[in-house]
Amino acid sequence: MFFLVLFLYLPLSYALTCNPNGFRRDCGHVGTQQSDCEQKGCCWSPKGHIPWCFYPNPSTVYVIQDAVQTSLGYEITLVVNDSSVGQAISPLYVNITSETKDRLHVKVFDPKNTRWEIPQNVSSFSNPPSSPPPASQYKVSFAGKGEEFWFAITRKSNGETLFNSSANSNGEFNSLVFEDQYLQIGTQLPSGYNLYGLGEHVCPLRLSSGQTYTLWNFDTATPVNLNLYGSHPFYLELRQSGSAHGVFLRNSNGMDVTLNEESLSYKVIGGILDFYFFLGPQAEAVIQQYHEVIGRPYLPPYWALGFHQSHYGYKNVEALQDVVAQYKSNKLPLDTMWNDIDYMDQYKDFTLDPVNFPEKKMKQFVDELHEDGQHYVVIIDPGIKKQSGYKAYDDGIHAGIFIKDKNNNFFVGKVWPGNTVFPDFFHPAAQQYWQDQIAGFLSILPVDGLWVDMNEISNFCNGECTSDVDFVSDTNEVRNSIYMKQENVGFDPNNPPYAINNQGNHIPLNIKTLDMDAVHYGGVLEYNSHNLFGIMEDTATSIALRILTKKRSFVLSRSTFPGSGVYTAKWTGDNHANFNDLYYSIPGMLNFQMFGIPLVGSDICGFIGDTNAELCARWMQLGAFYPFSRNHNNKGSKSQEPYMFGQQVTDISRKILNVRYSLLPYYYTLFYYASRPVSASNVPAATVTRPLFFEFSDDNNTYGIDKQFMVGSGLLISPVLTQGAASVTAYFPKARWYDFFSKEITSESGAESKTLATPLESIQVHVRGGVIVPMQEPSLTTAASRLNPYQLLVALDSSGMANGSLYLDDGISLNVTRYSLITYTAMSTSGQTTLTSKAQTTVTNDSESAAPPMNTIIVLGVAKKPSTVTANSKPLPSSQVLYNSTSLSLTLSMLALPMESDFTLLWK
Ligand SMILES: *[C@@H]1O[C@H](CO)[C@@H](O)[C@H](O)[C@H]1NC(C)=O
Ligand SMILES: *[C@@H]1O[C@H](CO)[C@@H](O)[C@H](O)[C@H]1NC(C)=O
Ligand SMILES: *[C@@H]1O[C@H](CO)[C@@H](O)[C@H](O)[C@H]1NC(C)=O
Ligand SMILES: *[C@@H]1O[C@H](CO)[C@@H](O)[C@H](O)[C@H]1NC(C)=O
Ligand SMILES: *[C@@H]1O[C@H](CO)[C@@H](O)[C@H](O)[C@H]1NC(C)=O
Ligand SMILES: *[C@@H]1O[C@H](CO)[C@@H](O)[C@H](O)[C@H]1NC(C)=O
Ligand SMILES: *[C@@H]1O[C@H](CO)[C@@H](O)[C@H](O)[C@H]1NC(C)=O
Repeated sequence: MFFLVLFLYLPLSYALTCNPNGFRRDCGHVGTQQSDCEQKGCCWSPKGHIPWCFYPNPSTVYVIQDAVQTSLGYEITLVVNDSSVGQAISPLYVNITSETKDRLHVKVFDPKNTRWEIPQNVSSFSNPPSSPPPASQYKVSFAGKGEEFWFAITRKSNGETLFNSSANSNGEFNSLVFEDQYLQIGTQLPSGYNLYGLGEHVCPLRLSSGQTYTLWNFDTATPVNLNLYGSHPFYLELRQSGSAHGVFLRNSNGMDVTLNEESLSYKVIGGILDFYFFLGPQAEAVIQQYHEVIGRPYLPPYWALGFHQSHYGYKNVEALQDVVAQYKSNKLPLDTMWNDIDYMDQYKDFTLDPVNFPEKKMKQFVDELHEDGQHYVVIIDPGIKKQSGYKAYDDGIHAGIFIKDKNNNFFVGKVWPGNTVFPDFFHPAAQQYWQDQIAGFLSILPVDGLWVDMNEISNFCNGECTSDVDFVSDTNEVRNSIYMKQENVGFDPNNPPYAINNQGNHIPLNIKTLDMDAVHYGGVLEYNSHNLFGIMEDTATSIALRILTKKRSFVLSRSTFPGSGVYTAKWTGDNHANFNDLYYSIPGMLNFQMFGIPLVGSDICGFIGDTNAELCARWMQLGAFYPFSRNHNNKGSKSQEPYMFGQQVTDISRKILNVRYSLLPYYYTLFYYASRPVSASNVPAATVTRPLFFEFSDDNNTYGIDKQFMVGSGLLISPVLTQGAASVTAYFPKARWYDFFSKEITSESGAESKTLATPLESIQVHVRGGVIVPMQEPSLTTAASRLNPYQLLVALDSSGMANGSLYLDDGISLNVTRYSLITYTAMSTSGQTTLTSKAQTTVTNDSESAAPPMNTIIVLGVAKKPSTVTANSKPLPSSQVLYNSTSLSLTLSMLALPMESDFTLLWK
C-alpha cells in the first residue's frame, strides 16, 4: 500500500520519447535519411551513436523503493516508475559495501534472476569483510526514498565529489538504465578533468573529452583510439587537489565508455554493474588498492628482464644460431632467443618443422643456449588444427574440451594452420589437456616460456567458417547462465540492440572472432565471456608451466583482462616501424602498469614495415628501459637486430643495453614491491615504470606528460621521439636532478623545462636527488651479470639525504629459500655524511650461495673533496677513493662489503 501511494506522487514522465542518450533500438540504418526515419514514426539523432534512426525509447526511471542500512553499508531496492513500458529490469538491488577504509564496492544487480557475472576463479575479487573497516576516506550518499535513483561518493578529507551518477544539468548522460542487453550509468566530472586508463587502446596517456573508448577484444594492427586486444574497464582520475582515485567496473561484456565535457558514461551490453572505488589518495596507492582486488602482478623470473630477440621469418635453426652468434661477437647482451610460428610443422601448435627446425638440431640449439645461460621462447596460438591424427586435436576431441557452436558441434574457425577448433578453458578438463600438450612439447624441446598470441580469439573468418561438421559432441549441456528475455524474438547475438563502437564502425561482434552464440562449458555464451579468453589462456598456460617446470613461469600474452598480470607479461602487439608508434609505446607501457601487468613493452624498432638505422637506434635506447625489452618484427620486413645497421647503431645498442643490465637489480626490486602487499608504514608501490604525475601529483604541469616517464621513483627517462631531432625538451619536476651519464646536476631544484642536446648516440636519463639506485656490473646475460659485484648510485638531495632498497633472491624459484631485503640510507649533518646498509636476510637452505659483494659506491652531489672516508669505522685508503671536482661525485671502489651484513660508510 505504501508504495502505491508513493507512485502517485511521481511525475508522469514515462511515455515514449526521443531521448538521444537513452537506449536506441534500431529503426533503420546509418544511411537512412531524416525524412524516411520520421515517416516511420521513429526518432532521428545523427549525433553520437548509431543507430541514428531509433524507435522512441521509454523514459522510465528507477526510483528508490527502500534503503536499508547494513553493518557494512546499504542495501537499496529500486523499481521502475512504470513497468509496463520498455524492458527495464525491476526490481533491482544496489548493494553498497564498505570493504576497506580505502575501498568501496557498489553492485547493481537483478535479485530475481541470475545474470552473467565473471566467475571468481577467472578474474579474482575480494570477499567483503566480516566487520566494518575503520574510519574510511569516503562518504556515500544517494537519493531519498521515492526519488529518482542516484548515488555519489565523496572524499571526506576535502569534500570533493568523486562519483555522482545523477545526470548532470547539461544532459550529457542519463541516469541508470538496466535492461537485459543494455546497461547505462555515468558520473559527473569536473570540467578539465585528468583521467587515465580504460584500455586497451593506442592513445595518449591522458584521455580526451569527446572520445568513446570501446572495450571489446579485437585483433587489429593498433589503430589509434579503437578497441584492441584486451579490455581493462578501470580508470584513474586525478584532481587539481593532487588527490587521485580509481574506478573499476568488474564486467566482461562489450562496452562503450564515453567521455564528455563534464561526464563519463558507460554503455554496457550485458552482465551487471559491479563497481569498485579506490580512494588513494596517491596515484600509486590507487593502483595498489586496485591490484589488491584483481590480483597483484607476479614476480617474474629474473632472466625475463634481460634482452630478447625475435622475428617472424627466421627461416631455420641456422638463422637462429647466426643471430645468437652475432650478438655474442658484437658483445651485445642477449638473454632470450624467440621463434614466431616459423618453427612449427604446418603452423600446428606443439610441433616442429621437420625440415627447417628438426628436433635433433633444435634440441642441440636449446641445450647450447642453456649452457650459455640463455633462454628460448616460442609462440603458440589457441587455434588447434582440425585434423584427425594430430595429437592436440585428437586429445581435445576425446576430452570434449573445445568450444562449441550453437548446434552443439565443435566451433570451427580459421587461423594460420587452416581450419581450427579452440580449447574451452571453462571446461574442467581443459587445464589438464593444455598441460598435457605443453608437457609433450617440453619433452621434445625444453623451452623456457610460451608466447600466447591470437587469443582475442582472433579468427580469419567472421564467426564460424564452414558448415562442414564431421563430429558431434556427446555431452548435452544446458545453456542457462545468461537469460535473454523471451520477447527478444529474432535475437541476433552478433548484432545486439545497442551496437558498441567496435572498430569505430559499430561492426558486428563476431567480425574476426567467434559467433556470439558459441558456447563454453556450463552454457557460458561467447557473448558474455569473449573478453575473458585471453586471461583464461594466460592462466592455464602459466599454471601448466609452473607445475611442469617447478619454477616461475614466463608467459607473454597479447590479450589480457584485469588479473592477467598475476600470470603473464604483455607486449603491445602489432605496432609500426615509425616515430609515432615509438611515442605511443610510452602511454601503452604506462597504462599496463595501472592495469597490473608491469612486465610490458612494445616491439623494439617496430613490427610492421621496414625500420631504419635512426629509428632503430632511438627505439633501442627507449626500449632498453621498458620492463619487457624485446626487438621483434614482421615476416618480410628487413632484419632489424641491432647489429644490422653498422657500427654506430651497434655501439649505441651495446651502450644502452649495458645500462639496462646494470640497472636490473633496481628493476627487479620494483617488481618485488609491485608483487607484494605494502604495509601501512611503507610508501605504496605497485608499478615499475610510472607517469610523472604519480610522483609529483602536486605539480599540474606533469598531468599530461607522456613523452617522458619514471622508472620507480628515482629515474626520469626523456627519449628522443622525433625523426632528425638532436635535442629533447624535458620537464624536470620539483627535485634535484642529476645526469645519469655525466653525474653532473642538470637541474638544482626542478620545476622547469630544459632543452638538452641529445645526438643520436644518447638518451636523456636523470636521477632524482634523494634516491639510491642499486646496480650491478653488466655482462652479456643475466646469468653472468648476477655473479658480478653490486654497485650503488647515491644521488643526494639538496639536504644531503637519500634512500633506497634492494631485494635479492635466486631469481627463479617459486618459493625462495634465501632472500634479502636491504635498505640504504644516506644522511648528512654538519659536513659529515653517513651511508648505512641494513639487511634483513632469510635463509632456509644453507647450501644456496650468498650474493656477490658490494664493490662500488658512487655518490652524486658531494660539494667538496672529503678529507676522511671510513668503511665500518676503518679508514679507506686513498687508492679506493676518487673525487671528481667537475661532476661533484665521489667514487668508492674495491669495497668488497658482504651484501647480507650491515655496513656504514662515513665521509667528511
Ligand atoms: C547484498 O547485501 C545483502 C545484505 O548485506 C547480502 O545479504 C547479499 O548477499 C548481498 N548480495 C550480493 C549479491 O552481494
Ligand atoms: C549529485 O548530483 C545531484 C544532482 O546534480 C545533486 O543534487 C547532489 O547533491 C550531488 N551529490 C553529491 C554528493 O555531489
Ligand atoms: C571455476 O569454478 C567453477 C565452480 O567451482 C568450476 O566449475 C570451474 O571449472 C572453475 N573454472 C576454472 C577455469 O578453474
Ligand atoms: C595548475 O595549478 C596552478 C596553481 O597551482 C593553477 O593556477 C592553474 O590554473 C592550474 N592549471 C590547470 C590547467 O588547471
Ligand atoms: C626516503 O626518502 C623520501 C624522501 O626523499 C622519504 O619520503 C621517505 O620516507 C624515505 N624513506 C625511508 C625509508 O627513509
Ligand atoms: C610453495 O609454497 C606454497 C605454500 O607456501 C606451497 O603450497 C607450494 O607447494 C610450494 N611450492 C613449491 C614448488 O615448493
Ligand atoms: C638448496 O639449494 C641448493 C643450491 O642452490 C639446491 O640445489 C637445492 O635444491 C636447494 N634445496 C631446497 C630444498 O630448496
